[in-house]
Amino acid sequence: MKITFSIIKADVGGWPGHVKVHPDLEKIAYKQLIGAQRSKILKDFHVTHCGDDLELIMTHTNGVDSKEVHELAWNTFLEATEKARDLGLYGAGQDILSDAFSGNVRGMGPGVAEMEFTERKAEPVIAFMMDKTEPGAFNYPIYKIFADPFNTAGLIIDPSIHDGFVFDVWDIKEHKNVKLKTPEEMYDLLALIGAKSRFVIKHVYPKKSSKLPSDEAAAVISTEKLYQIAGEYVGKDDPVAAVRAQSGLPAVGEVLEGFSHGHLVSGWMRGSHNGPLMPVSVEQAQCTRFDGPPRVTALGFQMHNGKLTEPVDLFDDPAFDYVRKQSQQITEYMRVHGPFEPHRLPMADMEYTTLPKVMKKLGKRFTNVK
Ligand code: 13P
Ligand code: 13P
Ligand code: MG
Ligand code: MG
Repeated sequence: MKITFSIIKADVGGWPGHVKVHPDLEKIAYKQLIGAQRSKILKDFHVTHCGDDLELIMTHTNGVDSKEVHELAWNTFLEATEKARDLGLYGAGQDILSDAFSGNVRGMGPGVAEMEFTERKAEPVIAFMMDKTEPGAFNYPIYKIFADPFNTAGLIIDPSIHDGFVFDVWDIKEHKNVKLKTPEEMYDLLALIGAKSRFVIKHVYPKKSSKLPSDEAAAVISTEKLYQIAGEYVGKDDPVAAVRAQSGLPAVGEVLEGFSHGHLVSGWMRGSHNGPLMPVSVEQAQCTRFDGPPRVTALGFQMHNGKLTEPVDLFDDPAFDYVRKQSQQITEYMRVHGPFEPHRLPMADMEYTTLPKVMKKLGKRFTNVK
């Protein structure tokens, strides 16, 4: 049976500031999605948050870009926005950038990661959710999971993944994409995805030689860029991803290993700073110090006939204490730089923040150097 796994998310108000989602908003989402499950639009769902982002994890048989499912998510975010306004939450309706729903939430503010695939006998799926960063933050871990033999032992020792994978990379400025195979095109892939603010991994596919269908994604990442929609800074794009695991794909532990480093990502305070990506439990997914540091959560499900088990909160484990400690040391080190690059993002990336307004004011005072 083909099932669609959809994660659709939006920041519709923070509590307080940009720290986390108020539980009343999650209650509204739960009520909406359980209604949709009863009326058979959804097979199953799970509502959660990462920082100030409300996350709808859904399974159904309507395929990607389904009008019904997108409309459900859109209406859920609208109702949650109303509640956020009633409660006086910060930035109520932050990611609701359009008035009228026209069949799809893409380009309207929310982030979307969806994939349709033939469910295997046992189907482990992990939902990753990040706050205070951008879609390119997934490049490093997704590359490690599917292409780095120092991360994923199976690339060397498991014949079912030894041939490697196909990466679908999107140029989010030029709106083009290119598919690159690993290991043979690994250097070309890295040449692109190292520039993470422009080239982002959208999908990873099994190769034709795999026992899995090569046109059904093994991983999908949201790539919406809010400033391109809004034309100004309205918060970061706080991405999500879904990754399938085991039996012809990296094992769950190989997938999680990709997040064991606390790599530097852009976002954090005012979407304007580089900092470490800290893997945390849902309980700890609240962005506090300097509105961060940027965080990632992971919920692991077994899916069966589209039904989801209760999730396992995968970073809620002492095995990730060390990377959390390391992320805090990096936080301390980066913060000492204050307004200096590379803690603050380079000028090109600051274009869609409030900095140009400050620069404009100073502009009049510049005179030509004699
Ligand atoms: P305010 O100017 O409303 O404080 O917003 C700053 C901020 O939180 C940037 O996202
Ligand atoms: P969010 O993108 O999570 O709303 O954060 C915005 C921000 O400016 C934090 O300082
Ligand atoms: Mg916010
Ligand atoms: Mg956020």
